[in-house]
Amino acid sequence: MVYKVVRYLNSPILERPAGDVTEFDTPELHMLIEDMFETMYASHGIGLAAPQIDVPKRLTVIDISGGEEDRDPERIVLINPQIVAKEGKQTGEEGCLSIPGFREPVTRARKAVVRAQDVKGVPFEIEGDELLARAIQHEIDHLNGVLFINHLSALKRDLIKRKIRKLQKAGDWE
Ligand code: CO
Repeated sequence: MVYKVVRYLNSPILERPAGDVTEFDTPELHMLIEDMFETMYASHGIGLAAPQIDVPKRLTVIDISGGEEDRDPERIVLINPQIVAKEGKQTGEEGCLSIPGFREPVTRARKAVVRAQDVKGVPFEIEGDELLARAIQHEIDHLNGVLFINHLSALKRDLIKRKIRKLQKAGDWE
């Protein structure tokens, strides 16, 4: 099932820290993960966090292949993830399925090591660099109620907010 992605400023859920996942390997959790991948691929994203579909849980799915047919899927599921190490810096354009149409350069760590649990609750670690590191940091931010625009200057952020409020008034931001 493809969920409607919650847009920034339409709901406070995107700016609230999410709660831990406490039940593992349930049919509901498996279904939620499948639906999150389906929703992410339908929107041509490379990552989606549960709060973006109005589920306040610390769960995110990532696939930097974006589900493109000519590329192998690299499906990553992170439950209750935590970044345990970061290294270096990278600056690149970033967008968000909850803030469609807006892209801005964001500086992030070039490498990130994450500790998380899998769908069965088993802990594991993965290391990402470049785009994967960026996606990991962006998605874990979501679980903490942080959006990429929080990494921009107040001036840029306010400009984007003003544009979104205009779109809201025009009924073009559902
Ligand atoms: Co996002």
